[in-house]
Amino acid sequence: MENQTSQQNTEKRKRVFSAIKPTGNPTLGNYLGAMKYWGKMHEEFDCLFAVADLHAITVAIEPKELRENSKRLFALLVAVGIDPADNVLFLQSHVPAHAELSWLLNNYTMFGEASRMTQFKDKSKKAPENINVGLFDYPVLMAADILLYQADIVPVGDDQMQHVELCRTIANRFNNKFSPTFTVPEGRVPKFGARIYSLSDPTAKMGKSDGANDGSVFILDKPDDIMRKFKRAVTDSGREIKAADDKPGITNLLTIYAAASGATLEQAQNEFASSDYATFKQRVGEAAVETLRPVREKYEALRRDDGELLRLMQAGAEKAARLAYRTLEKVYKKIGFVRL
Ligand code: TRP
Repeated sequence: MENQTSQQNTEKRKRVFSAIKPTGNPTLGNYLGAMKYWGKMHEEFDCLFAVADLHAITVAIEPKELRENSKRLFALLVAVGIDPADNVLFLQSHVPAHAELSWLLNNYTMFGEASRMTQFKDKSKKAPENINVGLFDYPVLMAADILLYQADIVPVGDDQMQHVELCRTIANRFNNKFSPTFTVPEGRVPKFGARIYSLSDPTAKMGKSDGANDGSVFILDKPDDIMRKFKRAVTDSGREIKAADDKPGITNLLTIYAAASGATLEQAQNEFASSDYATFKQRVGEAAVETLRPVREKYEALRRDDGELLRLMQAGAEKAARLAYRTLEKVYKKIGFVRL
């Protein structure tokens, strides 16, 4: 009975797809800005989340690092609340349909269109010795990720919106050339979620690989390390604890406190109206420790059993593959491939 109702709901529910690359080490900023909310989305949508490991090799990465990052990110996604029972959670490379569709879509993507992608231009500038074809093709693989699942909504950071636009262009082109095949997805930059900046430079984003200078708090950091980083966090001149344009350090800390404790920025500000900077930083650190603690504990439990982790990956990949191959088969047929 219950199954029946949820079945009916599923049919009308919109589908969400997003993915995250296993590069670097996810931060408190990633958590408070996005990951924290992903676990709840299944209440409203049918959700698929992938670890985009195929995308990770477009920049230089050691085999050991790719392997460990992929496992870590998968377990971390479960730990932040993406329950594999309520979501389809998988590794991109475990569903070969992604690579297959991306080859097919290459032929309906114009060289000029891919050349205009700002991320490609930025990354080319950053690593001129490794401007490989995969880096150029990155957005087409991303389009394949999305289109395989007929996703309606794609939550992404604003730096990825241009890629979602290209995905829409490819989908429309294919639909018009053959017949309606792909859902044309809508990219969405979530409005909820806090924007968190580096603790050592509050004008720069908290980066996934900014470990050396204590600017980034990682989701899996131990409490002592988190506290040390907050104690060293740069503040601003003056002594007032107030969110303001000329107080980026204090504003960032207030934002973190508010997001971690579930308060508004205003409430946080009032709470610290008569504190000094040192006490304030201590309290923000404690709030961060407490927010991350259950995530880290769940993560550590998951990492104790590699076999179980692989079984979760396998089950997720099977669910994803069933959906993906339905689309891929249609695409092959429409283009004119002989199918067995
Ligand atoms: N490129 C995305 C990022 O860097 C990750 C990603 C890969 C993705 N495939 C996707 C995001 C499909 C949304 C949909 O953040």
